[in-house]
Amino acid sequence: MVDRKPLISGNWKMHHNHFEAIQTVQKLSYALTKEDHALVDVSIHPPFTDLRSVQTVLDADSIPIALGAQNCHWEDKGAFTGEVAPGMLAKLNVKYVIAGHSERRELFGELDQQVNLKVRAILKAAMTPILCCGETLAEREAGSTEAKVSGQVIAGLQGVAAEQVGGLVIAYEPIWAIGTGRTATAEDAQTVCGAIRAVVAQSFGDTAAAKVRIQYGGSVKPSNAAELMAQPDIDGALVGGASLDADDFARIINYRIA
Ligand code: 13P
Repeated sequence: MVDRKPLISGNWKMHHNHFEAIQTVQKLSYALTKEDHALVDVSIHPPFTDLRSVQTVLDADSIPIALGAQNCHWEDKGAFTGEVAPGMLAKLNVKYVIAGHSERRELFGELDQQVNLKVRAILKAAMTPILCCGETLAEREAGSTEAKVSGQVIAGLQGVAAEQVGGLVIAYEPIWAIGTGRTATAEDAQTVCGAIRAVVAQSFGDTAAAKVRIQYGGSVKPSNAAELMAQPDIDGALVGGASLDADDFARIINYRIA
């Protein structure tokens, strides 16, 4: 069995300016121990305007938290007003980039095909994509959760080599659980994450499926992190609201001693 080190990621969405970001990162670094870092990989995904400041703090204090971004364009450069190229993020030591978050899909019309271009561009720039998938409440009630999620995963990974798939991260985030305080039960989350791993196995083989890390996201809190993280196919969490507060986020990262 492959030992998958959990990855717990804080997606700050459009919160925290660069001053607030620096404070939060410093507080978080004081709250985390060497043991935490040995057992769990941690990434934070602040808004673009914070990246340089946060990178400087992480570097200067040798803080073992990975820098992440929330989005990027897929082209290397060009006339794309308002967009950020993968290479620009890589230059800032960004390690993980979220691709296809449901808010990007629902609010900004991002399609599977664009998400796939992003995943490939992120890999090309030697960073790790966190490919997001998840169903709406209507889809869940119609019994089409697994079809929706599998379709997003297959489309998002189109043209990616099996060796690369093993190294990336998939985040299962049921849309109805994001920012609502409603969490999928640990059993439900496990069922869907298990189905995602099975889809990866079918398309890319057992080795890739055994290695790929699957996060759960959607109202993860200190009080429910341990139960979610105990599931065999859940290898981490993508945390929104609760990652904005350094103490809460540290308690999630510390889930094993909650
Ligand atoms: P919440 O943790 O606020 O529900 O957000 C989840 C999310 O969308 C992380 O990407």
